[in-house]
Amino acid sequence: MVNSRRVFAAFVLALTIIDAAFGFNFNYGDALDKSLLFFEAQRSGKLPGNQRVKWRGDSGLTDGYQQKVNLVGGYYDAGDHVKFGLPMAYSVTMLSWGAIEYGKSMMDLNQMGHVGDGDSDHYCWERAEDMTTPRTAYKLDTEHPGSDLAGETAAAMAAASLAFRPYNSSYSDLLLVHAKQLFWFADRFRGLFTDSILCAKEFYTSSGYSDELLWAATWLYRATKDESYLKYVVDNAATMGGTGWAVKEFSWDNKYAGVQILLSKVLMDGNGGAYTATLKQYQAKADYFASSAAFLLAVYSDYLSAAKSVLTCPDGNADYILGKNPKSMSYIVGYGQNYPIHVHHRGASIASISTLHSVVGCVQGFDAWYHRPEANPNIVHGGLVGGPDKNDNFDDDHPHPKTAAKPYEKPGMPVEFFHSITDSWTVGRIAYYRHKVTIKNKSEKPITDLKLAIENLSGSLWGLSPTQNKNIYELPEWIKVIKPGSECSFVYVQGGPQAKVSVQSYH
Ligand SMILES: *[C@@H]1O[C@H](CO)[C@@H](O)[C@H](O)[C@H]1NC(C)=O
Ligand SMILES: *[C@@H]1O[C@H](CO)[C@@H](O)[C@H](O)[C@H]1NC(C)=O
Ligand SMILES: *[C@@H]1O[C@H](CO)[C@@H](O)[C@H](O)[C@H]1NC(C)=O
Repeated sequence: MVNSRRVFAAFVLALTIIDAAFGFNFNYGDALDKSLLFFEAQRSGKLPGNQRVKWRGDSGLTDGYQQKVNLVGGYYDAGDHVKFGLPMAYSVTMLSWGAIEYGKSMMDLNQMGHVGDGDSDHYCWERAEDMTTPRTAYKLDTEHPGSDLAGETAAAMAAASLAFRPYNSSYSDLLLVHAKQLFWFADRFRGLFTDSILCAKEFYTSSGYSDELLWAATWLYRATKDESYLKYVVDNAATMGGTGWAVKEFSWDNKYAGVQILLSKVLMDGNGGAYTATLKQYQAKADYFASSAAFLLAVYSDYLSAAKSVLTCPDGNADYILGKNPKSMSYIVGYGQNYPIHVHHRGASIASISTLHSVVGCVQGFDAWYHRPEANPNIVHGGLVGGPDKNDNFDDDHPHPKTAAKPYEKPGMPVEFFHSITDSWTVGRIAYYRHKVTIKNKSEKPITDLKLAIENLSGSLWGLSPTQNKNIYELPEWIKVIKPGSECSFVYVQGGPQAKVSVQSYH
């Protein structure tokens, strides 16, 4: 497992944010080049000599120091300073898949990176170079398995090994070695990574790992042609839900449809052999998914044309994003003449470390930079803003309301709560808020069975476990005790007023 340790080094999470999604245009050189520049803006660690994004500096140089492993390097999640979550591994898989299927020109640029749509702690608004937030590192090991994250990373590496094969065979081989190790680990030690990673993992909750195991095995089969991987997806077809579920979703959390479509290709290429019967079952699900997706697209397209709006499907998508839209604006930052200038990105919104040498602290970042009406001082080339909505409006806006955290809880209680709104956005007429509640241990006395009552919760909640009783939650099993003076937090997202949190009982 020594080698795999280095791979796990990539699973470093700290905490941060961006309200943007990132997209890639496989057709147009400049837009693609801008997109790839985005990855450069996200680099962590010591920057290489050929770094083109000059407003960034070295950062996160002691990552892993406390844990006695070298975790320096990698990419930040998005506008924040988290490294490598589940959505990012998925993005790499998808980027590789795009490259394998369509993107020779993309690989000619000889670059590859990670993207994500991270979200987490809004408490600090600062440059990566000034980071003072704790660089907590989380590691998966045999006692703390994470089949979803390890499986997705195995899939990413197997797919990337295929994408890189024509360009650098030794790199491709190395990726494959790690992909196999990771898959072995993911399969042998089963568990959800969110059960292994503490309180901080709120936003990368995956709903299961069976799909990632099938997905990883499928990519490994494609990359190695080793039949044992095909046998794996066939043997586990029913138990892991590969042929049982007709899913309606393909996302970083759910890859069944991708598995089904990749396996259909094996069948269509005439490579089914002894596994043909089961592969046909996979294909039946792929047909179902594709036809319902096609149906939904057709219906949606009708609705949109009735409303004189635009359907942005893959072909037309690029032109729309690049400026063929009623606002004549590019939704890719830095592309064209007219593009978003207030992108929600910490590094971009604060003056560069090379022009403003003094440290911009956590709170100062909010006060002096986050709320500034002027354009971002740095251009995060290649970032694609969230939206646009049906009126072609997009999220070019970082000053979200942020309420100060105020403690509340009755005197005499062993814990205190701090509530803050860390983000907000609007869908239709409804304003949604991301609420973060920090639980702080005020007592020295041993407390067990702390139960919290949460009333008026209408949205989703991360970071607490439900109990059998309605509205009653407990600390997740892996936390059990909050050390005196320390804290842990949970998050919920909902429209309308906030939920009411109180201590229900404890012993
Ligand atoms: C190929 O990848 C290896 C890492 O495995 C790297 O050291 C080498 O520089 C790469 N070669 C080229 C031509 O990019
Ligand atoms: C607070 O800390 C004390 C001392 O470690 C511990 O006994 C107690 O259970 C903690 N309370 C909570 C709610 O975790
Ligand atoms: C909050 O929940 C309580 C019961 O748990 C209910 O009586 C009350 O109407 C709710 N308030 C709102 C604003 O939904």
